[in-house]
Amino acid sequence: MNVLLLGSGGREHAISLKLSQSPLLEKLYIAPGNAGTTATGINVPIQVTDFPAIREFVLRNQIGMIVVGPEDPLVKGIHDYFLRDPDLAMIPVIGPVKAGAMLEGSKEFAKNFMQRHGIPTASCKIFSKENLEEGDMFFRKGHPPFVLKADGLAAGKGVVICPTVEDAIRELKEMITDEKFGTASKHVVVEDFLKGIELSVFILTDGDSYKIFPEAKDYKKIGEGDTGPNTGGMGSVSPVPFMNHTLKDKIEKRIIRPTILGLKSENIDYKGFIYFGLMNVDDEPFVIEYNCRLGDPETEAVLPRLCNDLLELFIAVGNKTLDKCTITTDPRHTVTVMLVSGGYPGVYKKGFEITGEKGVSESLVFHAGTVTDQNGVVRTSGGRVMAITSFGNTFGEALERSYENAEKIHFENKYFRKDIGFDVK
Ligand code: AMP
Ligand code: GLY
Repeated sequence: MNVLLLGSGGREHAISLKLSQSPLLEKLYIAPGNAGTTATGINVPIQVTDFPAIREFVLRNQIGMIVVGPEDPLVKGIHDYFLRDPDLAMIPVIGPVKAGAMLEGSKEFAKNFMQRHGIPTASCKIFSKENLEEGDMFFRKGHPPFVLKADGLAAGKGVVICPTVEDAIRELKEMITDEKFGTASKHVVVEDFLKGIELSVFILTDGDSYKIFPEAKDYKKIGEGDTGPNTGGMGSVSPVPFMNHTLKDKIEKRIIRPTILGLKSENIDYKGFIYFGLMNVDDEPFVIEYNCRLGDPETEAVLPRLCNDLLELFIAVGNKTLDKCTITTDPRHTVTVMLVSGGYPGVYKKGFEITGEKGVSESLVFHAGTVTDQNGVVRTSGGRVMAITSFGNTFGEALERSYENAEKIHFENKYFRKDIGFDVK
């Protein structure tokens, strides 16, 4: 089967590596891909939301499956676009229809969905222009800190935690009146602050049954000790040491199953990944967000631990036979360390030559923001540049290997966090 994978990050490099190992694969194309994905397939210069160009490419190259990495095309309805077109309708798309992608595309939708289906989450109130003046009183009566979330997609920046009532009042006005996040913050979800430890749980579903993938924990802050601004993610670990049978059971019974049943009862035929961003509060799991895709850099730690043929699982999603599959997981630990451009997530320079990858041993190198220039030189092209993943029989062993190899890769202004996994060691 020929497969087209959409995306260009470390997540997509990790997915492409796994797909390229499948005996069921003929050709793998990645649109647009990065310098790393040229080793696992063929890069195609098409943007992930250019649906007509994707359509033409799919038809011209006998593509038998589309795998969607990022959320943008899903929220914009790529799956629906395929279903509506008689020439494309039979080609499975791994990634939900727009109605399902709304779990990520609209925090208001996600909150209401969780309330309808009794899924544990922080209690919340929704604000818009219409009830903005109620905000002051709401905050004065409540207890800080407050969590303010822009309803729509805001490139991972739409969540603001306000330590005081005054901050919350000002922030709510900036989001709604000043459209701080554009139309994404016309509606704002204000929710209670949950104090606990975060983890990411991933499932793959065909709409009827689901399979739980290895869980992970990511490190979102730029600075050591989880300080400074949020990034796309600076590293990840899998498994998560505090995940035990009891917690897993609670997550499955209270969160995963009601989500799948809820989608079904609302006639949303969800095919693809669901990423549960969870807060573990004294051993009670709460959903802090849903995503309609795999996480990045969690994927770089999770997929190497998956022993299954990923393409076989995707085919089962398309055929609705996922219940026949069994997931097997490598028991070893993985640690992923992200190498980023100095200055990220603020202003940074790109275009620096990257050297040293060939010297890396016993680790996987997943490219994220990289390109190959016309002379074949690999250069930085984004904030997050490369993810280094290592296995270890212990967490410490994996960590040490990733750090050893992180030192072997060079580009100007390289930065990485030296304390990935500090809170779960
Ligand atoms: P989100 O984009 O929803 O994942 O939010 C970004 C980050 O904000 C999360 O990874 C959490 O660290 C934090 N966060 C979101 N919601 C809450 C909450 N209700 N309580 C505490 N922290 C939260
Ligand atoms: N690692 C967080 C995300 O992918 O959204």
